[in-house]
Amino acid sequence: MSPQPVANTLDQENLSPQELTKKLLAVENKVCSYGDTVHYAKDPKFFKHCEGSYLFDLEETPYLDLQMWYSAVNLGYANPRVNESLKRQIDQLPQLACQYLHPEKIHLAEKLVNSVQKGFGQVGRVHFNVGGAQAVEDSLKLVRKHTRKQHMFAFEGGYHGRTLGASAITSSYRYREPFGEFGDRAEFIPFPYCFRCPYGKEPDSCKLYCAQQFVRKFETEYYGVLNPKNGKSEFGAFYMEPLQGTGGYVKPPEGYFEIIAEVCKAYGILLVDDEIQMGFFRTGKLWAMEHFGIKPDIIVFGKALTNGMNALSGLWAKEELINPEQFGPGSTHSTFSSNTLGTATGLEVMTIFEDGDFETSVPAKGAYFLEQLQSLQKKHPEIGDVDGLGLALRMEMCQKDGFTPSRELADAMFQKGLSGDLQARGKKMGLILDIGGYYKNVVTLAPSLTITHDEIDLGIELLDQVITLCKKEGAGA
Ligand SMILES: Cc1ncc(COP(=O)(O)O)c(C=O)c1O
Repeated sequence: MSPQPVANTLDQENLSPQELTKKLLAVENKVCSYGDTVHYAKDPKFFKHCEGSYLFDLEETPYLDLQMWYSAVNLGYANPRVNESLKRQIDQLPQLACQYLHPEKIHLAEKLVNSVQKGFGQVGRVHFNVGGAQAVEDSLKLVRKHTRKQHMFAFEGGYHGRTLGASAITSSYRYREPFGEFGDRAEFIPFPYCFRCPYGKEPDSCKLYCAQQFVRKFETEYYGVLNPKNGKSEFGAFYMEPLQGTGGYVKPPEGYFEIIAEVCKAYGILLVDDEIQMGFFRTGKLWAMEHFGIKPDIIVFGKALTNGMNALSGLWAKEELINPEQFGPGSTHSTFSSNTLGTATGLEVMTIFEDGDFETSVPAKGAYFLEQLQSLQKKHPEIGDVDGLGLALRMEMCQKDGFTPSRELADAMFQKGLSGDLQARGKKMGLILDIGGYYKNVVTLAPSLTITHDEIDLGIELLDQVITLCKKEGAGA
């Protein structure tokens, strides 16, 4: 018997938003793989349009977005300048195979190269791809080509994507477990997560014990990473996010990265700075690693480069690693790698950054937001920790003791915000949150960098409402 054809949902004119949602979900359930997404929501929501800090559902209910597509939309939804640049490029040169050149690619590469030179005083080149994980894959090839090594260090709680190579250096075993042997699985080093110190130390007295544990690994060959006879290590690179993104916006203490970098430099281990989530002014600097006084050998970037428009990612690497004699044509290649629509929007985004005052405004807004979160913490002991750097802010949800992780409360907050049934300023509203962290109990806040003080106040009002309602309904008790 031949299978039943699925209903055609294109003809949907006379349906109410509720009927349309029901119909679309029924078809989605039949025709869409869930493998390319994450169905965190109990009732997946359909959205119709977006603007600034807001998404609007099929009933036109506004949802204040405090995660901006995991920090891919740093300049706000439907940013007029970015939209215009895309439209201009569509009319000018919408398609071009990437072995041919177009001016926007060169201008964008030049801006990125200059930004690294300004931020880190280093000379290098950039190279494009499409998604974040693909840029990570390209960086792995670059590391292997230069060092001939396939073993990497990475952090516990780190996230670098879900292609095969990126999964090998991403901490979660859950992402690898169904897919067989990963011979190149990274060695995962504890990240300095001071609120829950992996070594049970206190920041005031620990003297960066965690960094010293990394130093210790190189003391003798019997710790498994070094041949002291020739000074060679088995490891090609250390992959690091400046602040952990998916790991819950955890920020390392001052001085930590410097120690790690010094050891790596001594043994020829390259430093790969994954700026895919924290780059592009999320933390108040164009590159988040600029806060931490180290010089990466390779930087990978994606997401907010195009403000979430036509996908474009890439990497920057030091000249001696990536010059054409070392890394020639075809070393990595993808059909869409330097696509004209992505490079044009990326160029506009970088120009907006140059024209703006993000290095001042983001820390100022971040400080204001953090202050409000600290006040909220006084009201709700279930907020165990609040912290942040620029507009990368964290709110760790716990039980009443303020420490035992409460995934249940964080999940309930996420669902409650997405229900679109909140009330604020005389309006029905929703709140878009993202949950991360090692225990999936951290609300990772990444609002638009263009968020206003008034919208921050609204965000705090909605967060307060969501926590109060979830507690009343028994979550996290
Ligand atoms: C730090 C980091 N690296 C890599 C990736 C993978 O990027 P993509 O999802 O575009 O493949 C992400 C995505 O969230 C990320 O946050």
